[in-house]
Amino acid sequence: MKHMTLNVEAFDDWLRTRFVELNNELESLYWLQTDRANVQGIGEATKAALVDEGRMLISALLDEGNTDEGFDAAFDLLGNVGLYMAACRRHEITEPSRETHSPLVEASALAMHIGASIGVTPRFATAHLTTHNMARGGKYKRFTDLHDERLFVDYNTKGILGYKRAADALLKILPLGISHPISAELLRVARQALQDVMDSNTTLFHELDTDRFFYCVRPYYKPYRVGSQVYRGANAGDFAGINVIDMLLGLCYANEPSYSQMLVDKFLYMMPEDQAILRDCMRRTSLMDYFLRATGSHKESWYQENLRLFLEVCELHGQTAIQHHDQLVQKYICEPSVDIQQQHLAKVTASGPPLHVLIGSLEKLRDRRAAVKRSDIRTAWQDIARLKATLD
Ligand code: HEM
Repeated sequence: MKHMTLNVEAFDDWLRTRFVELNNELESLYWLQTDRANVQGIGEATKAALVDEGRMLISALLDEGNTDEGFDAAFDLLGNVGLYMAACRRHEITEPSRETHSPLVEASALAMHIGASIGVTPRFATAHLTTHNMARGGKYKRFTDLHDERLFVDYNTKGILGYKRAADALLKILPLGISHPISAELLRVARQALQDVMDSNTTLFHELDTDRFFYCVRPYYKPYRVGSQVYRGANAGDFAGINVIDMLLGLCYANEPSYSQMLVDKFLYMMPEDQAILRDCMRRTSLMDYFLRATGSHKESWYQENLRLFLEVCELHGQTAIQHHDQLVQKYICEPSVDIQQQHLAKVTASGPPLHVLIGSLEKLRDRRAAVKRSDIRTAWQDIARLKATLD
């Protein structure tokens, strides 16, 4: 990365220190209330300090204009502006349903300038907090110092990296073909990577405190307005790897409307390199289809070995999806939502749709990945059954 300008450095320093202190202070005030979801009328001086100090630093950056420090620096700065805007949203200094334009005029202008110039949404995305979050002295950028925020981000990063390892291994099979002896090795790598995702999700499930996550971490991931438009919240799925696995395994289909709708919606939330990987992958034949075309070779040892491994990878991918939905989403989103007062419920999800709509679409994803037999959506259960029947 090239050198930061002094203004970029000043904003980055503020974000890593004072910004975190202000958020900590507000979180501890909200936490003391009977209704922990309430933020109104609490810590007004602290909120004002957050807005004003951030605005001053951002105005200097806006005046500086396009300093052409390269992609990494631009993406990083967009993340910093985004963290500031997301915190303002969390403390309801801004509220998209209350406004038609973001009152954070300078921050919006800077975010739109950068986002449009590098080909991503003008808000902070998951990559900013997880895979592209430079640590200084062992500490990476976060909203607060809360133990549960760190836990959440650490395990999101581990999960994302695990899925990426699996996706990379599967992509490398394409130029080798399913009968290649090294494809067995690559399927083993994918299997191990998905097992790592399972293990990391299990730790998260046991260690993350539900109330802390629900009341003090999740609210920073809400949708917010940049300029006139509302951008949905960031979620751990905003990288190509998970969909590369879906499609290369042949468990999800790029030509199925609800799945492709999700892909279309998420493109700009991903890093440009991930956008390119996903685009390429949408045109590919799945490994499932290659195996289905090769059933005539079922007596060959390569077929038996590689198909067995392939089916294990499919099984594990389904398991990670079941775990995400039945454990993480259930424990940390659905269960606490039952208790929350009606006026706060509309604001629970990161993507914006009502909770039951979001849960319905996540269930479909889970069942596609797990190849469950369903009459309302296309899943791969028949293909899997056909292939299983050819194993010795
Ligand atoms: C999406 C909840 C951790 C992967 C989502 C969504 C929710 C959710 C509610 C839907 C998007 C939205 O909110 O608008 C949670 C909770 C977690 C958690 C409560 C832990 C406390 C993780 C982890 C991973 C992950 C560790 C691993 C990488 C995904 C993916 C999506 C997603 C890939 C996009 C939809 C999909 O393709 O399945 N998550 N998540 N999540 N999450 Fe998580």
